[in-house]
Amino acid sequence: MPIVLAIETSCDETAVAILRGHELLASEVASQTEHEAYGGVVPEVASRNHLLHAPRLLASAVEKAEIELDAVDAFAATAGPGLASSLMIGASVAKGLALGFAKPFLAINHLEGHLLSPFFTGDFEIEPNVSLIVSGGHTLLVAVRGAGEYRILGRTLDDAAGEAFDKVAKMVGLGYPGGPEIEHWALSGNAARFDFPRSMLDSGDDNFSFSGLKTAVRYQIAKLGAISDDLRRDLCASFQRAVVEVLVKKTLRAAAERELRLVTVSGGVSCNRELRAQMLEACDRAGLKLLTATPELCTDNAAMIAFAASFRLHAGFESELTREIDPNLALA
Ligand code: KG4
Ligand code: ZN
Repeated sequence: MPIVLAIETSCDETAVAILRGHELLASEVASQTEHEAYGGVVPEVASRNHLLHAPRLLASAVEKAEIELDAVDAFAATAGPGLASSLMIGASVAKGLALGFAKPFLAINHLEGHLLSPFFTGDFEIEPNVSLIVSGGHTLLVAVRGAGEYRILGRTLDDAAGEAFDKVAKMVGLGYPGGPEIEHWALSGNAARFDFPRSMLDSGDDNFSFSGLKTAVRYQIAKLGAISDDLRRDLCASFQRAVVEVLVKKTLRAAAERELRLVTVSGGVSCNRELRAQMLEACDRAGLKLLTATPELCTDNAAMIAFAASFRLHAGFESELTREIDPNLALA
């Protein structure tokens, strides 16, 4: 069983994972809280932190996996998309290890990591599916025929879904990242209080737009003045309902149009319990199967990069050590 060590540093999470065959031996993640004060990720701060965290996480992953580094068969790193100065750290470390131990290096697309993550806990068979990737940087609908066979159906034309969660959280006085905070406050809120726009719900294509929704929340707040706890709960619940409704309906329509019977959802926003519940209900009603990643695999991690790398390695793929990172790396 080949052992793959993967490093993920595309944004503000530093992560290292070790996978032996289908068995996850270690998955270490260090999240950076320094960005909270700025209400968003500061690239310079993120890359400095990756430099600090990477050696420590590598050591603890190797210890937890109970292997020696020279037992690793391939070293992988996220090559994009992401922040250039962050990607460079993980890719350089993985390349250095590959060079030092004379093992293959694999440059992995972060989005492929997310896209494959729902299959991680199953039987590893990548069946054709409609894949919704919803994170802080991306909102994509993808038709998947198998591992490595992807066709982008649609994407957000402005803000990503997670970005909308983060921006609205800031507007209502909540911390970063905003998704979990909004989900928490929405739990006891009245989602019917504000009728926020469901942009592009009936656009007839597979694209999304969340900036109008964000602006509608901003106008509502300006009209209301001071935000009491009750009001914050209702704003969060109404906003969350609008995002979830659009994501669920457009994903199901994309599946129906291509006659695909399996829906997968991945990325940080797929941690959201309201999204998971509504997607499951809609899939059940339509007779579709739904696969989501476990919550630890939804937000950025290196296990998903190791998983994608193991598929690539199995298919005989290997990257040159001269392969550059690409902040805009496309999935297909
Ligand atoms: O996949 P991820 O960790 O990083 C990117 O590749 O962007 O996603 C992070 C995003 C953030 O915008 C965060 O607010 C959002 O995922 N998120 C959530 C939840 N947990 C994380 N959004 C809604 N509900 C959640 N429970
Ligand atoms: Zn991500």
